Amino acid sequence: MNTEILKIEPKSIDIAAELLRKDEIVAIPTETVYGLAGNGLSPNAVKKIFEAKGRPNDNPLILHISSVDWLYRYAEEVPRLALKLAERFWPGPLTMIMPKKSIVPKETSGGLDTVAFRMPNSPWTLKLIEACDFPLAAPSANLSGLPSPTRAGYVYNDMKGKIPLIIDGGQCSYGLESTVITFIEKGVKILRPGGVTAEMLSEFCETEIDKAVIEGLKDTDKALSPGMKYKHYSPKAEVFMVECDDDEVFAAFVNENSDENTIVLAKNSDNIKAKTLPYGRSAKQEAETLFASLRKADETGAKKIYVQAPSKEGIGLAVYNRLIRAAAFKVIKL
Ligand code: TXA
Ligand code: MG
Repeated sequence: MNTEILKIEPKSIDIAAELLRKDEIVAIPTETVYGLAGNGLSPNAVKKIFEAKGRPNDNPLILHISSVDWLYRYAEEVPRLALKLAERFWPGPLTMIMPKKSIVPKETSGGLDTVAFRMPNSPWTLKLIEACDFPLAAPSANLSGLPSPTRAGYVYNDMKGKIPLIIDGGQCSYGLESTVITFIEKGVKILRPGGVTAEMLSEFCETEIDKAVIEGLKDTDKALSPGMKYKHYSPKAEVFMVECDDDEVFAAFVNENSDENTIVLAKNSDNIKAKTLPYGRSAKQEAETLFASLRKADETGAKKIYVQAPSKEGIGLAVYNRLIRAAAFKVIKL
């Protein structure tokens, strides 16, 4: 199959809608990462998404919607708190899990009786969803296990020959996937941290952070979100997360332990002799650059990547959560 890349504009939205109506799958830009979209009500389209990604079929997909009203089409029960959060944070990087109606096929929900919803903050993608008049099921547009793509070119690397069309909307502004929450008696529980932070949610309701966000799952734990179980975000090189707030101590450590096949992601690269790639001094910059820099490190043939650990506050928690998985929980404390 030939994979076309089209710049985002009205004509390419029409072409994408036409393909989606025919149960084809199309990569689309969102403000978080690129998604691999198909008709979320069509088992046939959803199967193609799982196949193209090589994704385990018990890992459910998010339904992307263009209007809050659509919740009533597809959710059996819409918590009042969900409406409040939607009003404040949608369109945006917040995904909410609710009981599903039977019109949502089990293929989409990975066999669960709940389904996740998000309204992406990307005007053209919202127009596309509206034009389709069905929700777009869309996981991140990477091969399962690799870092999520933040540019059309990275989608192409993973999906060429497997899908007919990539809509190129430029670089994603957040660079990390959305916050995933579920509703609990007192408020919400964060299953995956993202751009809508625990601090932001706690202004509205009690907000718990699932312990798997930081610790990962023990073999005996039940995964509240199937995505927690799987290896994630990993580049080919071996990644180490280095916890160290003192930039000089960090620089001395990596200078001592690096060779020509080492890449370093540091908050401050001034005194670092090894090759470095863009990272950031703030959690927001780290979120924007992390996945792209992990992919670039692989392109240079790196064998080992040292990354200075982010703080666990605000969007830093999301960076920490992705990084500790990319590092397969290998943490060096200095
Ligand atoms: O920012 C994002 O969320 C991007 C863009 C494309 O919207 N999408 C994305 O999708 O990251 P995906 O499939 O890569 O991650 C969705 C996560 C998975 O960890 C999945 O297990 C979890 O959400 N999830 C989806 N539906 C769920 C449900 N019903 N119950 C629990 N977890 C669910
Ligand atoms: Mg993903």
